[in-house]
Amino acid sequence: MSHAYHPLFQTWSPLLLSAAVAVLTLNTAQAQSSSEAATSTNAHGAVQKSLFGHLPDGRAVDVYRLTNANGIELQVTNYGGIILSLKTPNMAGEFDDIALGFDSLEAYLSDEYRQANPYFGAIIGRYGNRIANGQFSLNGEQYTLASNDGNNHLHGGQQGFDKVLWQAEPFENDEGTGLVLRYTSEDGEEGYPGRLETEVTYTLTDKDELVVDYRAVTDKATPVNLTQHSYFNLKGEGNDSILDHQLMLNAPEFTPVNDTLIPTGELRSVDGTPFDFTQATPIGERIEQDNEQLAFGGGYDHNFVLARGNAAADELVVAAKVWEPQSGRMVEITTTEPAIQFYSGNFLNGDLTGKQGQTYGHRSGFALETQHYPDSPNQEAFPSTILAPGDTYRSRTIYRFSAQQDFAP
Ligand code: BGC
Repeated sequence: MSHAYHPLFQTWSPLLLSAAVAVLTLNTAQAQSSSEAATSTNAHGAVQKSLFGHLPDGRAVDVYRLTNANGIELQVTNYGGIILSLKTPNMAGEFDDIALGFDSLEAYLSDEYRQANPYFGAIIGRYGNRIANGQFSLNGEQYTLASNDGNNHLHGGQQGFDKVLWQAEPFENDEGTGLVLRYTSEDGEEGYPGRLETEVTYTLTDKDELVVDYRAVTDKATPVNLTQHSYFNLKGEGNDSILDHQLMLNAPEFTPVNDTLIPTGELRSVDGTPFDFTQATPIGERIEQDNEQLAFGGGYDHNFVLARGNAAADELVVAAKVWEPQSGRMVEITTTEPAIQFYSGNFLNGDLTGKQGQTYGHRSGFALETQHYPDSPNQEAFPSTILAPGDTYRSRTIYRFSAQQDFAP
Protein backbone atom coordinates (compact mmCIF):
# COMPACT_ATOMS: atom_id res chain seq x y z
CA MET A 1 0.00 0.00 0.00
CA SER A 2 1.12 3.50 -0.69
CA HIS A 3 0.48 5.30 2.58
CA ALA A 4 2.77 8.19 3.20
CA TYR A 5 4.95 8.49 6.22
CA HIS A 6 5.85 11.27 8.54
CA PRO A 7 9.62 11.81 8.75
CA LEU A 8 9.37 12.20 12.53
CA PHE A 9 8.06 8.69 12.98
CA GLN A 10 10.61 7.34 10.57
CA THR A 11 13.39 8.47 12.86
CA TRP A 12 11.85 7.20 16.08
CA SER A 13 14.31 4.75 17.56
CA PRO A 14 13.27 3.04 20.83
CA LEU A 15 15.60 5.47 22.63
CA LEU A 16 13.98 8.53 21.07
CA LEU A 17 10.60 7.02 21.69
CA SER A 18 11.23 6.69 25.41
CA ALA A 19 12.60 10.26 25.48
CA ALA A 20 9.44 11.44 23.74
CA VAL A 21 7.29 9.53 26.22
CA ALA A 22 9.20 11.12 29.09
CA VAL A 23 8.57 14.60 27.71
CA LEU A 24 4.89 13.86 27.23
CA THR A 25 4.64 12.48 30.75
CA LEU A 26 6.17 15.67 32.10
CA ASN A 27 3.62 17.73 30.26
CA THR A 28 0.77 15.57 31.51
CA ALA A 29 2.00 16.10 35.02
CA GLN A 30 1.92 19.84 34.36
CA ALA A 31 -1.57 19.57 32.99
CA GLN A 32 -2.75 17.68 36.10
CA SER A 33 -6.27 16.44 36.57
CA SER A 34 -9.04 17.13 34.12
CA SER A 35 -11.03 19.21 36.59
CA GLU A 36 -8.26 21.78 37.03
CA ALA A 37 -7.18 24.33 34.53
CA ALA A 38 -3.46 24.03 33.91
CA THR A 39 -1.18 26.10 31.75
CA SER A 40 2.29 25.52 30.45
CA THR A 41 4.14 27.98 28.31
CA ASN A 42 7.33 28.07 26.29
CA ALA A 43 8.99 30.53 23.95
CA HIS A 44 6.46 29.65 21.27
CA GLY A 45 3.12 29.79 22.97
CA ALA A 46 1.07 27.97 25.49
CA VAL A 47 -1.13 24.96 26.09
CA GLN A 48 -3.94 25.33 28.58
CA LYS A 49 -6.18 22.48 29.63
CA SER A 50 -9.60 22.75 31.25
CA LEU A 51 -12.72 20.71 31.75
CA PHE A 52 -15.19 20.78 28.84
CA GLY A 53 -17.88 18.56 30.36
CA HIS A 54 -18.86 14.95 30.98
CA LEU A 55 -20.11 12.19 28.72
CA PRO A 56 -23.38 10.47 29.69
CA ASP A 57 -21.30 7.64 31.24
CA GLY A 58 -19.52 10.13 33.50
CA ARG A 59 -16.16 10.31 31.75
CA ALA A 60 -14.59 13.76 31.82
CA VAL A 61 -13.91 15.54 28.54
CA ASP A 62 -11.25 18.24 28.30
CA VAL A 63 -10.57 21.22 26.13
CA TYR A 64 -7.03 22.24 25.20
CA ARG A 65 -6.25 25.79 24.21
CA LEU A 66 -3.08 26.08 22.13
CA THR A 67 -1.58 29.41 21.17
CA ASN A 68 1.41 30.26 19.04
CA ALA A 69 3.92 33.12 19.20
CA ASN A 70 1.75 35.24 16.86
CA GLY A 71 -1.42 34.92 18.92
CA ILE A 72 -3.17 32.31 16.79
CA GLU A 73 -5.35 30.20 19.06
CA LEU A 74 -6.63 26.68 18.50
CA GLN A 75 -9.09 24.96 20.81
CA VAL A 76 -9.39 21.19 20.61
CA THR A 77 -11.33 18.69 22.69
CA ASN A 78 -10.40 15.06 23.21
CA TYR A 79 -14.03 14.14 22.39
CA GLY A 80 -13.74 13.22 18.71
CA GLY A 81 -10.49 15.20 18.50
CA ILE A 82 -12.81 18.05 17.52
CA ILE A 83 -11.35 21.43 16.63
CA LEU A 84 -13.72 23.73 18.49
CA SER A 85 -12.33 27.05 17.37
CA LEU A 86 -9.43 28.59 15.49
CA LYS A 87 -8.71 32.29 15.79
CA THR A 88 -6.56 33.86 13.10
CA PRO A 89 -5.93 37.51 12.09
CA ASN A 90 -7.38 39.30 9.09
CA MET A 91 -5.41 41.86 7.06
CA ALA A 92 -5.92 44.50 9.77
CA GLY A 93 -4.58 42.12 12.42
CA GLU A 94 -8.02 41.50 13.95
CA PHE A 95 -8.66 37.96 15.15
CA ASP A 96 -11.81 36.02 14.34
CA ASP A 97 -12.83 32.45 14.92
CA ILE A 98 -12.93 30.84 11.47
CA ALA A 99 -14.00 27.29 12.46
CA LEU A 100 -17.65 26.25 12.67
CA GLY A 101 -18.62 24.55 15.92
CA PHE A 102 -20.04 24.97 19.41
CA ASP A 103 -18.78 26.10 22.78
CA SER A 104 -20.38 23.36 24.87
CA LEU A 105 -20.02 19.58 24.93
CA GLU A 106 -23.81 19.28 25.27
CA ALA A 107 -24.23 20.86 21.83
CA TYR A 108 -22.04 18.14 20.26
CA LEU A 109 -23.91 15.40 22.15
CA SER A 110 -27.42 16.71 21.41
CA ASP A 111 -29.86 14.64 19.35
CA GLU A 112 -30.36 17.60 17.05
CA TYR A 113 -26.66 17.72 16.25
CA ARG A 114 -26.25 13.97 15.89
CA GLN A 115 -29.17 13.85 13.47
CA ALA A 116 -27.81 16.67 11.33
CA ASN A 117 -24.37 15.01 11.56
CA PRO A 118 -22.16 17.63 9.93
CA TYR A 119 -19.06 16.25 11.76
CA PHE A 120 -17.87 19.79 12.59
CA GLY A 121 -14.11 19.86 13.21
CA ALA A 122 -13.81 16.15 14.02
CA ILE A 123 -11.27 13.44 13.29
CA ILE A 124 -12.90 11.01 10.89
CA GLY A 125 -12.16 7.27 10.96
CA ARG A 126 -11.70 4.50 10.33
CA TYR A 127 -12.83 5.48 6.88
CA GLY A 128 -13.34 9.07 5.83
CA ASN A 129 -16.08 9.31 3.21
CA ARG A 130 -18.41 6.63 1.84
CA ILE A 131 -18.22 2.87 1.36
CA ALA A 132 -20.98 1.62 -0.97
CA ASN A 133 -23.78 -0.27 0.79
CA GLY A 134 -21.57 -0.61 3.87
CA GLN A 135 -19.97 -3.70 2.31
CA PHE A 136 -16.56 -4.76 1.20
CA SER A 137 -14.60 -7.97 0.91
CA LEU A 138 -11.02 -8.41 1.95
CA ASN A 139 -8.85 -11.53 1.76
CA GLY A 140 -11.90 -13.60 0.83
CA GLU A 141 -14.06 -12.40 3.75
CA GLN A 142 -17.16 -10.24 3.39
CA TYR A 143 -17.52 -7.40 5.90
CA THR A 144 -20.70 -5.47 6.71
CA LEU A 145 -20.49 -2.00 8.20
CA ALA A 146 -23.23 0.26 9.51
CA SER A 147 -25.29 1.99 6.81
CA ASN A 148 -25.60 5.48 8.24
CA ASP A 149 -26.04 7.46 5.01
CA GLY A 150 -28.93 5.88 3.14
CA ASN A 151 -27.57 2.44 2.24
CA ASN A 152 -23.98 3.65 2.39
CA HIS A 153 -21.45 3.76 5.18
CA LEU A 154 -20.19 7.28 5.93
CA HIS A 155 -17.28 8.55 8.04
CA GLY A 156 -16.71 5.41 10.11
CA GLY A 157 -20.27 4.52 11.09
CA GLN A 158 -22.65 5.15 13.99
CA GLN A 159 -19.88 5.80 16.48
CA GLY A 160 -16.91 6.75 14.38
CA PHE A 161 -13.70 8.37 15.60
CA ASP A 162 -15.57 11.69 15.74
CA LYS A 163 -17.69 10.41 18.66
CA VAL A 164 -15.14 8.62 20.84
CA LEU A 165 -13.02 9.88 23.69
CA TRP A 166 -9.34 10.10 22.81
CA GLN A 167 -6.44 10.08 25.25
CA ALA A 168 -4.71 13.41 24.98
CA GLU A 169 -1.18 14.54 25.78
CA PRO A 170 -0.11 18.12 25.24
CA PHE A 171 3.46 18.84 24.17
CA GLU A 172 5.78 21.63 23.22
CA ASN A 173 8.69 21.34 20.84
CA ASP A 174 10.88 23.54 18.68
CA GLU A 175 8.11 23.98 16.11
CA GLY A 176 5.34 25.07 18.45
CA THR A 177 2.73 23.60 20.76
CA GLY A 178 0.58 20.57 20.20
CA LEU A 179 -1.59 17.74 21.28
CA VAL A 180 -1.20 14.00 20.67
CA LEU A 181 -4.49 12.10 20.61
CA ARG A 182 -4.61 8.31 20.87
CA TYR A 183 -7.49 5.92 20.38
CA THR A 184 -7.59 2.14 20.04
CA SER A 185 -10.45 0.83 17.93
CA GLU A 186 -11.15 -2.77 18.90
CA ASP A 187 -11.38 -5.66 16.44
CA GLY A 188 -14.91 -5.64 14.99
CA GLU A 189 -15.73 -2.08 16.03
CA GLU A 190 -18.32 -0.68 13.61
CA GLY A 191 -17.84 -3.93 11.64
CA TYR A 192 -14.18 -3.32 10.71
CA PRO A 193 -11.60 -6.09 11.07
CA GLY A 194 -8.54 -5.75 13.31
CA ARG A 195 -7.57 -3.84 16.40
CA LEU A 196 -6.43 -0.46 15.16
CA GLU A 197 -4.17 1.71 17.29
CA THR A 198 -4.49 5.27 16.07
CA GLU A 199 -2.56 8.42 16.85
CA VAL A 200 -3.38 11.90 15.58
CA THR A 201 -1.10 14.83 16.40
CA TYR A 202 -2.07 18.48 16.07
CA THR A 203 0.86 20.93 16.08
CA LEU A 204 0.29 24.69 15.99
CA THR A 205 3.55 26.14 14.75
CA ASP A 206 5.01 29.62 14.92
CA LYS A 207 4.87 29.66 11.11
CA ASP A 208 1.08 29.89 11.53
CA GLU A 209 0.55 26.32 10.47
CA LEU A 210 -1.66 23.64 11.84
CA VAL A 211 0.14 20.37 11.16
CA VAL A 212 -1.95 17.22 11.42
CA ASP A 213 -0.10 13.90 11.56
CA TYR A 214 -1.92 10.60 11.45
CA ARG A 215 -0.48 7.22 12.32
CA ALA A 216 -2.09 3.81 12.77
CA VAL A 217 -1.15 0.15 13.14
CA THR A 218 -3.39 -2.92 13.03
CA ASP A 219 -3.27 -6.63 13.86
CA LYS A 220 -5.47 -7.64 10.85
CA ALA A 221 -5.78 -6.13 7.39
CA THR A 222 -8.33 -3.30 7.46
CA PRO A 223 -9.29 -0.22 5.45
CA VAL A 224 -7.98 3.05 6.94
CA ASN A 225 -8.65 6.51 5.55
CA LEU A 226 -8.36 9.15 8.25
CA THR A 227 -9.15 12.81 7.77
CA GLN A 228 -9.97 16.05 9.55
CA HIS A 229 -13.46 17.48 9.07
CA SER A 230 -13.15 21.17 9.96
CA TYR A 231 -15.47 23.61 8.23
CA PHE A 232 -14.06 27.07 7.74
CA ASN A 233 -15.58 30.42 6.96
CA LEU A 234 -12.67 32.81 6.49
CA LYS A 235 -14.87 35.85 7.25
CA GLY A 236 -15.44 34.33 10.67
CA GLU A 237 -17.78 31.48 11.58
CA GLY A 238 -21.47 32.35 11.35
CA ASN A 239 -20.80 35.13 8.84
CA ASP A 240 -22.93 34.27 5.81
CA SER A 241 -22.04 31.94 3.03
CA ILE A 242 -18.66 30.91 1.67
CA LEU A 243 -19.70 31.35 -1.98
CA ASP A 244 -17.52 34.45 -2.33
CA HIS A 245 -14.38 32.63 -1.17
CA GLN A 246 -11.94 31.97 -3.98
CA LEU A 247 -10.72 28.42 -4.27
CA MET A 248 -7.77 26.87 -6.06
CA LEU A 249 -7.53 23.08 -6.19
CA ASN A 250 -4.39 21.46 -7.54
CA ALA A 251 -6.57 18.83 -9.16
CA PRO A 252 -6.83 18.16 -12.90
CA GLU A 253 -9.33 15.32 -12.31
CA PHE A 254 -12.15 14.35 -10.00
CA THR A 255 -14.06 11.16 -9.32
CA PRO A 256 -17.64 11.57 -10.58
CA VAL A 257 -20.31 9.97 -8.40
CA ASN A 258 -23.72 8.33 -8.70
CA ASP A 259 -26.79 9.82 -7.03
CA THR A 260 -25.77 8.37 -3.63
CA LEU A 261 -22.33 10.02 -3.91
CA ILE A 262 -20.43 6.79 -4.56
CA PRO A 263 -17.71 7.15 -7.25
CA THR A 264 -18.52 5.51 -10.56
CA GLY A 265 -14.85 4.49 -10.89
CA GLU A 266 -14.11 7.03 -13.61
CA LEU A 267 -11.40 9.67 -13.24
CA ARG A 268 -12.78 12.63 -15.19
CA SER A 269 -10.87 15.68 -16.37
CA VAL A 270 -12.13 18.92 -14.79
CA ASP A 271 -11.40 20.74 -18.03
CA GLY A 272 -14.33 22.84 -19.21
CA THR A 273 -16.51 21.83 -16.23
CA PRO A 274 -17.62 23.65 -13.05
CA PHE A 275 -15.11 21.39 -11.28
CA ASP A 276 -12.13 23.19 -12.75
CA PHE A 277 -10.54 25.04 -9.84
CA THR A 278 -7.01 24.79 -11.20
CA GLN A 279 -7.19 28.61 -11.42
CA ALA A 280 -8.59 30.40 -8.36
CA THR A 281 -12.37 30.82 -8.84
CA PRO A 282 -15.15 31.98 -6.48
CA ILE A 283 -16.85 28.90 -5.04
CA GLY A 284 -20.27 30.28 -5.98
CA GLU A 285 -19.46 31.20 -9.57
CA ARG A 286 -20.65 27.96 -11.17
CA ILE A 287 -22.29 26.13 -8.27
CA GLU A 288 -25.84 26.66 -9.62
CA GLN A 289 -25.02 25.52 -13.15
CA ASP A 290 -27.17 22.83 -14.66
CA ASN A 291 -24.78 19.93 -14.18
CA GLU A 292 -25.60 16.37 -13.21
CA GLN A 293 -22.66 16.04 -10.82
CA LEU A 294 -23.53 19.29 -9.03
CA ALA A 295 -27.14 18.10 -8.80
CA PHE A 296 -26.05 14.81 -7.17
CA GLY A 297 -24.04 16.68 -4.54
CA GLY A 298 -26.46 19.58 -4.07
CA GLY A 299 -23.37 21.62 -4.92
CA TYR A 300 -19.75 20.52 -4.53
CA ASP A 301 -19.34 17.29 -2.57
CA HIS A 302 -16.68 15.57 -4.61
CA ASN A 303 -13.29 13.93 -4.40
CA PHE A 304 -10.60 15.76 -6.36
CA VAL A 305 -7.52 13.86 -7.54
CA LEU A 306 -4.39 15.83 -6.76
CA ALA A 307 -1.61 16.43 -9.27
CA ARG A 308 1.18 14.77 -7.33
CA GLY A 309 3.51 14.48 -10.31
CA ASN A 310 6.50 12.40 -9.33
CA ALA A 311 6.20 13.30 -5.66
CA ALA A 312 7.00 10.43 -3.32
CA ALA A 313 4.15 9.13 -1.16
CA ASP A 314 5.60 10.88 1.91
CA GLU A 315 6.07 14.22 0.13
CA LEU A 316 3.79 17.15 0.76
CA VAL A 317 2.17 18.71 -2.32
CA VAL A 318 -0.10 21.73 -2.50
CA ALA A 319 -3.70 20.54 -2.49
CA ALA A 320 -5.78 23.70 -2.11
CA LYS A 321 -5.72 27.41 -1.43
CA VAL A 322 -8.73 29.40 -0.29
CA TRP A 323 -8.80 33.20 -0.05
CA GLU A 324 -11.57 35.46 1.20
CA PRO A 325 -11.47 39.01 -0.24
CA GLN A 326 -13.08 40.95 2.65
CA SER A 327 -10.77 39.74 5.43
CA GLY A 328 -7.87 38.82 3.16
CA ARG A 329 -7.60 35.51 5.03
CA MET A 330 -5.98 32.69 3.14
CA VAL A 331 -5.58 29.03 4.00
CA GLU A 332 -3.17 26.89 2.08
CA ILE A 333 -3.36 23.12 2.41
CA THR A 334 -0.51 20.77 1.62
CA THR A 335 -0.74 17.02 2.04
CA THR A 336 0.82 13.62 1.54
CA GLU A 337 -2.62 12.26 0.49
CA PRO A 338 -3.58 11.58 -3.13
CA ALA A 339 -6.94 13.41 -3.01
CA ILE A 340 -9.11 16.00 -1.31
CA GLN A 341 -12.87 16.03 -0.79
CA PHE A 342 -14.30 19.49 -1.39
CA TYR A 343 -17.66 19.86 0.36
CA SER A 344 -19.40 23.23 0.05
CA GLY A 345 -21.63 22.82 3.13
CA ASN A 346 -24.70 21.95 1.07
CA PHE A 347 -26.48 20.11 3.88
CA LEU A 348 -26.23 23.02 6.33
CA ASN A 349 -29.71 24.51 6.50
CA GLY A 350 -29.82 26.98 9.38
CA ASP A 351 -30.98 24.44 11.98
CA LEU A 352 -27.77 24.56 14.02
CA THR A 353 -26.74 27.58 16.08
CA GLY A 354 -23.04 28.32 16.49
CA LYS A 355 -20.80 29.94 19.06
CA GLN A 356 -21.94 33.54 18.62
CA GLY A 357 -25.62 32.62 18.44
CA GLN A 358 -25.67 32.76 14.63
CA THR A 359 -27.28 29.95 12.72
CA TYR A 360 -25.21 27.99 10.26
CA GLY A 361 -27.05 28.53 7.00
CA HIS A 362 -26.78 26.84 3.64
CA ARG A 363 -23.13 26.83 2.49
CA SER A 364 -21.92 28.88 5.45
CA GLY A 365 -18.76 26.77 5.76
CA PHE A 366 -16.60 24.65 3.50
CA ALA A 367 -14.70 21.47 4.29
CA LEU A 368 -11.56 20.36 2.46
CA GLU A 369 -10.78 16.84 3.59
CA THR A 370 -7.45 15.35 2.53
CA GLN A 371 -7.85 11.60 2.00
CA HIS A 372 -7.77 8.60 -0.32
CA TYR A 373 -10.70 8.24 -2.73
CA PRO A 374 -14.17 7.29 -1.48
CA ASP A 375 -15.22 3.62 -1.69
CA SER A 376 -11.66 2.45 -2.34
CA PRO A 377 -12.23 -0.92 -0.61
CA ASN A 378 -14.63 -1.71 -3.50
CA GLN A 379 -12.67 -0.09 -6.32
CA GLU A 380 -9.57 -2.00 -7.32
CA ALA A 381 -8.27 0.70 -9.66
CA PHE A 382 -8.16 3.30 -6.85
CA PRO A 383 -5.04 3.62 -4.65
CA SER A 384 -5.35 1.06 -1.87
CA THR A 385 -6.56 2.03 1.60
CA ILE A 386 -5.83 -1.38 3.11
CA LEU A 387 -3.44 -1.34 6.04
CA ALA A 388 -1.71 -4.66 6.64
CA PRO A 389 -0.39 -5.91 9.97
CA GLY A 390 3.27 -4.94 10.31
CA ASP A 391 2.79 -1.81 8.18
CA THR A 392 2.21 1.66 9.55
CA TYR A 393 -0.37 4.07 8.17
CA ARG A 394 1.15 7.55 8.02
CA SER A 395 -0.33 10.70 6.62
CA ARG A 396 0.35 14.40 7.04
CA THR A 397 -1.63 17.53 6.16
CA ILE A 398 -0.59 21.11 6.85
CA TYR A 399 -2.94 24.11 6.90
CA ARG A 400 -1.10 27.43 6.69
CA PHE A 401 -2.98 30.58 7.63
CA SER A 402 -2.19 34.09 6.42
CA ALA A 403 -3.88 37.33 5.39
CA GLN A 404 -3.15 39.16 2.17
CA GLN A 405 -4.52 41.74 -0.26
CA ASP A 406 -4.81 39.45 -3.24
CA PHE A 407 -5.01 35.82 -4.09
CA ALA A 408 -1.33 35.36 -4.76
CA PRO A 409 -0.54 32.37 -6.94
C1 BGC B 1 -19.45 14.54 2.93
C2 BGC B 1 -20.84 15.09 2.82
C3 BGC B 1 -21.49 14.99 4.15
C4 BGC B 1 -20.64 15.76 5.13
C5 BGC B 1 -21.20 15.73 6.51
C6 BGC B 1 -18.71 15.33 3.93
O1 BGC B 1 -17.44 14.81 4.09
O2 BGC B 1 -18.80 14.56 1.70
O3 BGC B 1 -21.59 14.40 1.87
O4 BGC B 1 -22.79 15.48 4.15
O5 BGC B 1 -19.37 15.22 5.16
O6 BGC B 1 -21.56 14.49 6.86
